Amino acid sequence: MKSISCTTPQAADLTSLAALADPAFSFGVATAAYQIEGGATEGGRGPSIWDHFSHTPGKTVNGDTGDVACDHFHRWREDLDLIAGLGVDAYRFSIAWPRVQPAGQGAWNPEGIGFYDRLVDGLLERGIQPHVTLYHWDLPQALQELGGWGVRDTAHHFARYAEKMGRLLGDRVSSIATHNEPWCTAFLGHQLGKFAPGLQDWALATQVAHHLLLSHGLALQAMRADGVRAPLGIVLNQSPAHAATDSAADQAAAASARRGFVDWFMDPIFKGCYPEDAGEQRAPLQVAPGDMACIQQPLDFLGLNYYTRIWCSAAQPPVPAPCVEGVNDMGWEIHPQGLEELLLDNQRRYGHLGLPPLHITENGMPEADVLQDGAIHDPRRIEYVRSHLLAVARARSQGVDVRSYFYWSLMDNYEWDSGYAKRFGIVHVDYATQTRTLKDSAHWYRNTIAALRAGSGHG
Ligand code: FCB
Repeated sequence: MKSISCTTPQAADLTSLAALADPAFSFGVATAAYQIEGGATEGGRGPSIWDHFSHTPGKTVNGDTGDVACDHFHRWREDLDLIAGLGVDAYRFSIAWPRVQPAGQGAWNPEGIGFYDRLVDGLLERGIQPHVTLYHWDLPQALQELGGWGVRDTAHHFARYAEKMGRLLGDRVSSIATHNEPWCTAFLGHQLGKFAPGLQDWALATQVAHHLLLSHGLALQAMRADGVRAPLGIVLNQSPAHAATDSAADQAAAASARRGFVDWFMDPIFKGCYPEDAGEQRAPLQVAPGDMACIQQPLDFLGLNYYTRIWCSAAQPPVPAPCVEGVNDMGWEIHPQGLEELLLDNQRRYGHLGLPPLHITENGMPEADVLQDGAIHDPRRIEYVRSHLLAVARARSQGVDVRSYFYWSLMDNYEWDSGYAKRFGIVHVDYATQTRTLKDSAHWYRNTIAALRAGSGHG
């Protein structure tokens, strides 16, 4: 992989990125509540499944928890200044449901609601568009004890929570997404047990996926009935699935991966049905009459999170992915071309089915960044962002309506079961002192955005 240590964008890159200079295209950074907030027992917040999971011995690297994380709950003002200093247009964050409604039903917590109210105002005061995600994996633990996403009631509780937040923030924020990556909630949380609530039950995971989709549909209906003005949508993690060879087995493996990972969520939303060839095991256990129509709500936008492609080899041992552009600190292949392919695929497969404008709601990479003399040189991350932005620009030039790119993440944070070991930020966090330091990639991102804006005549 080519290494760029310079924090100034090259002229040739700016020319190739011209399709993103449009003032209607937003550059942003993203975070999620449990990964940055801390203040886990403060301000009336109730426990979430991630508090429970991370405090269970053996579930996370080093037993790390999000108790303190980046202490954003206390440092949010300086963090908003940091975001403003990056010169980005937009900030994507999530609301911790147990902070605003500690038990997930019943009483609201005014202190928690006030926190997000002030956060949104703080962003607007700094000229930054707020993009809200309602569920980034931190279900109130009290609801888990009643069956969590395995029971339908949770979908109805979620819709009431969405309605409440929509009413509070819907006239000030630039978008509201119901879920972040429901595939992860369902399958990493309930089939593989890698994420909270740490269950390993295939049938349950499938039912959970259905209830998540149902809760999305119910939430959209509730917010629209209430007159919420912000664009409403959902965020899905997607990857193109590539067969290692032309063999029938590899081709079948790739088709099956795509169905499970992409179509399982896209088809209900855009076609009102599950993929026909998904196989018996994939069939949701209980689909009530009306569920599919409820899930198939028109979207105002679709958020896509892209990190890597899925490489499918049925051989034993498997044929390894080529990894021409290298592998990141998570062991994920770096494959920028996959982002362009994904955007074009969405357009081709769902464009005639009401596909709304797209946002790249997450894209980024971790590195074992080291602070040296007050600086962090992360040339591989610069190249990662650069190459993925070029992929977005190519897709836009080919007619795909992509409206934004959010780098994951604003700052190093609690990376779920990997704890604090993986650093995705363009801002370095020293967890002992909570000092934030801009990495070279942050300077490059800021300089690139500024140069594109200057070149397009919009300051
Ligand atoms: C995504 C998650 C996000 C972060 C990145 C690395 O799947 O949405 O919270 O963990 O991966």
